[in-house]
Amino acid sequence: MPFEWQDLREWLARVEALGELRTIRGVDWDREMGGVVEICCRQLAERLPALLFDEIPGYRAGYRCLYAMLNSPRRFALTMGMPLDIPGGTMGYLRAFRERMKAITPVPARVVDHGPILENVDEGTVVDLLKFPVPVHHELDGGRYIGTADAVVTMDPESGWVNLGTYRMQVVDRQAATLYISPGKHGRLHLDRYFEAGRPCPVVAIVGIDPLLWVPARYQVPYGVSEYDYAGGIRGEPVAVLQGKTGVPIPANAEIVLEGEVHPGDTHPEGPFGEWPGYYAGGERPEPVMRVTRVLYRDDPILTCAASNKPPHAHLFERCFIRSAGLWDGLERGGVPNVRGVWVHEAGAGRTFIVISIKQSYYGHSRHAGILASQMSPAAYIGRWVIVVDDDIDPSSMYEVLWAMGTRCDPATDIEIQRKCWSSKIDPLTFTEHYYNSRAVVDACIPYEHRHDFPKVAVSSRELRARLIERYPAVFREILGTIPDP
Ligand SMILES: Cc1cc2nc3c(=O)[nH]c(=O)nc-3n(C[C@H](O)[C@H](O)[C@H](O)COP(=O)(O)O)c2cc1C
Repeated sequence: MPFEWQDLREWLARVEALGELRTIRGVDWDREMGGVVEICCRQLAERLPALLFDEIPGYRAGYRCLYAMLNSPRRFALTMGMPLDIPGGTMGYLRAFRERMKAITPVPARVVDHGPILENVDEGTVVDLLKFPVPVHHELDGGRYIGTADAVVTMDPESGWVNLGTYRMQVVDRQAATLYISPGKHGRLHLDRYFEAGRPCPVVAIVGIDPLLWVPARYQVPYGVSEYDYAGGIRGEPVAVLQGKTGVPIPANAEIVLEGEVHPGDTHPEGPFGEWPGYYAGGERPEPVMRVTRVLYRDDPILTCAASNKPPHAHLFERCFIRSAGLWDGLERGGVPNVRGVWVHEAGAGRTFIVISIKQSYYGHSRHAGILASQMSPAAYIGRWVIVVDDDIDPSSMYEVLWAMGTRCDPATDIEIQRKCWSSKIDPLTFTEHYYNSRAVVDACIPYEHRHDFPKVAVSSRELRARLIERYPAVFREILGTIPDP
């Protein structure tokens, strides 16, 4: 399907036409925008519209901040070039997303010599990161974070492989910001390669980004593949990039881009920051500093923002989506047959509570699925609970999952515990620097040997349901306001 939008502004116009954009004026950058987003998100979860803050006190009108870009099924579908209305609820969208991702072949970026990002260029002593309404997102954050819904672009010094990763950036002063890149992430590997050679690492940070580029920046795109090319693959045409001053390519249609370098040994205290598990668990510690030498931005630029907090938060829905799709793919690749659904739950902050539904096909099938999932990327890191349910249970419905746990799982025999698993400093239960945790795999499937004699579920049959809906549409419309799915 051809994409009808080329940049964040055209995408926002489409989102507005869908009725999913609200512009809010006069809210302060200092803890207020973050607080407003959190309050609204707690009420609406994935029904939260995209929130564009304008007329931020102390800043020129038009210098805006955007939160909750992708936090709805329709905004996510729009971004990925999928149909906007897909039947089958969350699992319907998830199936369509998996099909979409399977069809992607990276398309190399195209170098151009002009683009809207060149509308304003500040260089040298004129550089001022606080020219933009950079928020303090949470009450106890250690400072103002210019990079949250961002992409940090680095290049491998030898192969020239260009990587984009979403890594947070805290303002140090008007011309510097820290980069928090956890060990093993691709951007960190690039930094380390420059540092080992005693050289500074050139960096581009896209802090006003379009949502299509933001998806691969936070997705585990394979080592060696550029997220620019991956985004081009989703779009079906190359991403237009400018050759920046540092040699690292810059997206021509971005809103705000920082160019600069990170020097070996140059660090500054970073954090604390409200982390995705819902705590300020990482504390403050030294992290590398990006010295910013050039800032490029459009007229009336939009800073894109994403601040985690105790779930739900405003970039959680799509996080669960992306991770569920990756886990489902992994289970299939790992040889688990008849997986009927996967949902990495919002209440588990998109990591700690995972549900897999299977059509049980052999003795041990449910343990096979659950134990494998508990140790498989993208679930292996800071996992906690994996629940396996039968295929009559919607894994995205907490109500159904709890019902299955309450009626099909015998705690004495159906919970497997794994110890010394992969965790990190941001897990609130790691009290020492030994970053282990444990996992429970909960088998909430009907015992396979009782699949034929287990009590029947007291629920209307498909046939009865379909007949009643067909016969009494007016009754359902009057009571429910809509006609339910058969
Ligand atoms: C809003 C948001 C903020 C994130 N912040 C960080 C961060 O500060 N540091 C980090 O290492 N990963 C962070 N991540 C996770 C990485 O973006 C993710 O692991 C991504 O795959 C990294 O790219 P890479 O695979 O190219 O290293 C964040 C993700 C999101 C969605």
